[in-house]
Amino acid sequence: MVSIINDVFLKTLSREKTSYTPVWIMRQAGRYLPEYLETRKKAGSFLDLCKNKDFATEVAMQPLDRYPDLDAAILFSDILTVPDAMGLGLYFEEGEGPRFKNPLQNEKEIQKLDIPDVEEKLNYVFNAVKSIKDALRNRVPLIGFSGSPWTLATYMVEGKGGSDFLKIKKMLYNRPDLINHILKINTETVTKYLACQIDAGADVIMIFDSWGGVLAHQEYESYSLNYMKVILSNLNLLGYQKTPKILFTKGGGQWLQAQANSGANALGTDWQTNLSSARKIVNDKVALQGNLDPAILLSDPKLIEKAVKEVLDDYGHGEGHIFNLGHGITQFTPPENLQALLETVRNYSPQFHKK
Ligand code: CP3
Repeated sequence: MVSIINDVFLKTLSREKTSYTPVWIMRQAGRYLPEYLETRKKAGSFLDLCKNKDFATEVAMQPLDRYPDLDAAILFSDILTVPDAMGLGLYFEEGEGPRFKNPLQNEKEIQKLDIPDVEEKLNYVFNAVKSIKDALRNRVPLIGFSGSPWTLATYMVEGKGGSDFLKIKKMLYNRPDLINHILKINTETVTKYLACQIDAGADVIMIFDSWGGVLAHQEYESYSLNYMKVILSNLNLLGYQKTPKILFTKGGGQWLQAQANSGANALGTDWQTNLSSARKIVNDKVALQGNLDPAILLSDPKLIEKAVKEVLDDYGHGEGHIFNLGHGITQFTPPENLQALLETVRNYSPQFHKK
């Protein structure tokens, strides 16, 4: 295996000693960057960006070109490519987010749902992974990703991003068999999808469980965590034990103990979670990623510096912290404010890694 030049992120995932705290930013390629908007215009639309490997590579590299302090790259794509490959017809309504032409509205549609030919239907994603990996020239590791079975199911049933999630929750309470059918198909599909991303060159994989936090505490493990565990253990059985795996349930800070026993190497945390308490709960068994409130980036460099230091102080001394936001960066972030964040992480964090 060719070694990665900057391996601080990889070392932290296995809780090995590093000289500073690594950092990357969820949605680091995106609309807050003027160069991203320019490429999107050239491509035509967001989906055109995802489906063309040259455009996907260009936008994935943009944050790394602008910010030399980033310690990881992430595949440019979207979690909703998976239901799209299942035939649900993904499209984006300008300013309104993702929608599906054919959401799963009744039992008949759900029974018809099947595992797609991942290699063929999602080939454009694996081509993007290969192309981004080449462009990186091993400068930093590349993260591949997927949505969790539950999070994908919320979009598949609701037909769009949720607010109250009443459609899927009504189904969950009335017809758990139908939800479990969708979740099983998603689990198998995501396992294959992530395996193909690793084969194409992803060094790390991350499962985004963006809507796991809307489940009642009695249901989280049955409907979200257990399916993610199946993905992680099946990837290990398929021979991908060495690829580090990150699991992030947004709004899932109260279930950290169960998540720490999932087989993941690292857990994402949002800003509602206190990192020092989280660290005690997981007992340094896994690394922790997070967890600055993305909204702080709408303030000014002085306030950002203070808030970044607080997050680093919260985690405290020792290995196993990957600095990130608690959720994706917002499109309204002034790019120079991210620079202030990155500089503070790089300058302030070395003290936590001294003997
Ligand atoms: O982190 C990165 O830089 C990689 C790219 C990435 C995107 N989406 C690009 C994107 C990743 C990792 C995602 C994951 C994703 N997509 C999630 C999980 C993470 C999370 O935010 O909770 C979810 C829930 C989605 C679904 C999705 N895609 C939504 C809700 C939206 C619209 C909301 C928004 O922010 O506008 C998207 C569109 C999307 N995905 C954009 C980008 C850059 C914006 C599209 C545009 O250019 O107009």
